[in-house]
Amino acid sequence: MTDEIVKQFPLLQRQQDGKRLVYLDSAATTQRPQTVLDAVRDFYEQNNANPHRGVYALGERATAAYEDARTEVASFLNAPREEVIFTRNATETLNLIAYSWGLQNLKAGDKVAVTILEHHSNLIPWQQVCRATGAQLIFLYTGPDGLLSDREIEQKITKEVKLVAFTHVSNVLGMVTPVEKITARAHEVGALCVLDCAQSAPHLRLDVAKLGVDFLAFSGHKLYAPLGIGVLWGRKELLEAMPPFLTGGDMIESVREQDATWAPLPEKFEAGTQNAGGAVGLAAAIRWMQGIGFDTIARREQVVYRYAWQALSHVPHVKLYGTPSGEHAGAIAFNVEGAHPHDVASILDADAVCVRAGHHCAQPLLHHLGMTACCRASFAVYNTCADVDALVESLQKVRKWLGYGA
Ligand SMILES: Cc1ncc(COP(=O)(O)O)c(C=O)c1O
Repeated sequence: MTDEIVKQFPLLQRQQDGKRLVYLDSAATTQRPQTVLDAVRDFYEQNNANPHRGVYALGERATAAYEDARTEVASFLNAPREEVIFTRNATETLNLIAYSWGLQNLKAGDKVAVTILEHHSNLIPWQQVCRATGAQLIFLYTGPDGLLSDREIEQKITKEVKLVAFTHVSNVLGMVTPVEKITARAHEVGALCVLDCAQSAPHLRLDVAKLGVDFLAFSGHKLYAPLGIGVLWGRKELLEAMPPFLTGGDMIESVREQDATWAPLPEKFEAGTQNAGGAVGLAAAIRWMQGIGFDTIARREQVVYRYAWQALSHVPHVKLYGTPSGEHAGAIAFNVEGAHPHDVASILDADAVCVRAGHHCAQPLLHHLGMTACCRASFAVYNTCADVDALVESLQKVRKWLGYGA
């Protein structure tokens, strides 16, 4: 089974300086299986035209490919297709929600709540919109273990809070947040919920009917699809009441010299020529994941995650962040005592082991945890325990390379 999955990824067959490539940076972006690469290539070779424009047969095939991709995403999320909007990535989706919903609905005296776990993409748009509207941005803090307590949820989400924007999975610590508790509390006080699924979509089954949130965002490239395609899902009545985020071609109903009216959903939020090839690739990636099965994906990833946590916790001078208890998906953050994370990542790279080093676009979280940078090993369904062994073996060299002797 393992080989069967790994074999489907052309890039993972490559070597770096004669060494097997060990890719442990899937939280940044995943690799793509052959079937996704083929689907994109097939679109450009067989069906490429500008969707929603040409009335000729080729144009209609392009439109059909693009709209079929929307149907695939809608079934992946268990949502009506008109509630699925294509964007460039999760960042654009979160900006769309913040600027369109936020500017229209927030005012002085209101609060927007985020968690300290947020990626900058689910933080800065809210900072900006709060500044513009006079609303206050507040934080739900985790303990040092990265977990959010029930008390924090109860105490911070009060009736002044109009919206809670939070990540489903921390991109640094890999921990799954308590979605059910947060949404229950938010809805109790009449607030809306935005769920950032950038890090959960590759690992967990997303069913909007069960998640109970009001908006959701993810990027295709983190779940085996091409770069440059993302998704916004939102409840229809909210999306219908919101003004467009970007304006221009294809999002209008009619245009006069001084004003315009908007197309119905989903086109209202899809101004300009869309990334149809990316959408087709995203649909292929979703079919590929469904072919493996979400239970199988979760099971395989849990095995690798648990193995990695155990193995890394036994490497001398390695400090792990977060906790292995609770639900976990995709990532482990660590530092090597006395070594800058960039040095660690460069030394690992000499063994063709790819990990991310830096602040991971989560500077407030790192500050909260008392550090400025760390390394992150992140996993996808193609990773195996052999990848973890390679990481551990390479990590054991780091301090020697840096002259510590041990
Ligand atoms: C939790 C989280 N949210 C949002 C994003 C932004 O994703 P993108 O850069 O694809 O827009 C990321 C990217 O790493 C992320 O990890």
